Amino acid sequence: MTDATTTEICDRPERVRVWDIWVRLFHWLLVTCIAIAAVTGFVLDASWIALHIVAGLSVVALVVARVIWGFLGPTHARFTDFLRRPAVVFFHLTGKESGRYLGHNPAGGVMMLGLIGIVLTLGVTGLAGLGGALRTGPLLSLPYPVGAAGLEIHEALAVFLLAMIFAHIAAAILESRYSRENLVLSMLTGTKESRPGDHTGHPERARPLLALMLILGLAATAILLLPNGRQTPIGVPVAELDASFVDECSACHLAYHPSLLTGAEWRALMAGLEDHYGEDASLDAETTARITDWLVAHDAATAQTRPARMFAGTLGTSAVSMTESRAWNHLHQDVREEIFLRAPVYSKSNCSACHSDAETGWFSPFHIQIPKEPSK
Ligand code: HEC
Ligand code: HEC
Repeated sequence: MTDATTTEICDRPERVRVWDIWVRLFHWLLVTCIAIAAVTGFVLDASWIALHIVAGLSVVALVVARVIWGFLGPTHARFTDFLRRPAVVFFHLTGKESGRYLGHNPAGGVMMLGLIGIVLTLGVTGLAGLGGALRTGPLLSLPYPVGAAGLEIHEALAVFLLAMIFAHIAAAILESRYSRENLVLSMLTGTKESRPGDHTGHPERARPLLALMLILGLAATAILLLPNGRQTPIGVPVAELDASFVDECSACHLAYHPSLLTGAEWRALMAGLEDHYGEDASLDAETTARITDWLVAHDAATAQTRPARMFAGTLGTSAVSMTESRAWNHLHQDVREEIFLRAPVYSKSNCSACHSDAETGWFSPFHIQIPKEPSK
């Protein structure tokens, strides 16, 4: 709580508490979690998805707690202290208004609202992508196109959030210079020096107990509502492979899951087994017909997985092999070329070397691991 006491006539200006411990803790935990989410999302590959999700969910939880504190916290934590009418924001930005704000200034308030909105939307689109496209998490019954759109929006918003964070840092530095005080330091110590003419805000008492109960209540509800993650995802293709398909088609490579290609592609491939990528893989007519029927019955149209939507159809038009398609190369652009050539992978087509769930056609990011080269 701030007392708007008059400044004493002495050398050292009086310091007042502006940011309570929860606002500061929130701020720096948010910085940490967003940094982890950004590095695991933008820099590291998809096998880091578990850490990315933990960091992302922590960001959402922190922001929800901060919103509650925005109604129940002390003076400068409250939305009423920093959310102002557009006219006031305009006056502030055009420099037509005098006096320093102890808490967030009107422009900072707009930034806060934007950050909260973007972070919550990132959480929702992330869960939608996880459910619809990667087929895990609480929203796994979403249709694939919704999940794929969720992932696209998630990525675009993440870039936008980074831009906003840079703007926020730039504004904090400029404002620190302009007002000759270290704003970053005050977010650590919580105090600012009191100056004549400050907008000190309307004093409010914090209600920490009520806030804590609300936050715990929400956390408990979230844990109860979230599925335990052991559900069988909808739209994940059959794991049972046809016996003659496995017998005949896993001699030279893994038995590629039927959901990876369209029915038309399987028919074309099965019609040309005498010259199958330079090998003779021909079978008797009856077995060929049997395997073809099974492949077509479980083709890409039956699955809602990412590979089924990304690779299927590419053999027909743009590539001879999935690994030559643009979609496949885009997904693997961060995997160094030499990793595919060395032991024990040897070939891009050897999907199961790195994807332990390759046989199911799911290719979940939770099941990716690049094997270590065996020592000679
Ligand atoms: C005699 C060995 C051999 C047999 C038997 C064989 N294949 Fe292949 N297959 C290959 C080779 C070699 C490639 C090319 C792999 C590469 O690109 O590295 C290939 C590639 C493929 C691809 C394309 C993979 C991609 O990257 O797009 C599919 C699909 C495929 N085979 C399906 C089958 C099916 C179905 C059968 C059973 C009817 C079968 N294969 C039997 C040797 C074989
Ligand atoms: C050398 C190991 C390796 C091989 C072999 C490999 N992959 Fe991958 N794959 C990866 C890695 C690593 C990623 C994550 C890339 C990233 O996110 O930057 C990945 C990503 C993927 C994804 C996207 C997963 C997601 O995030 O939804 C799909 C689908 C996929 N691979 C399919 C295949 C298929 C099909 C094959 C075989 C034709 C294959 N991969 C062969 C290592 C491999």
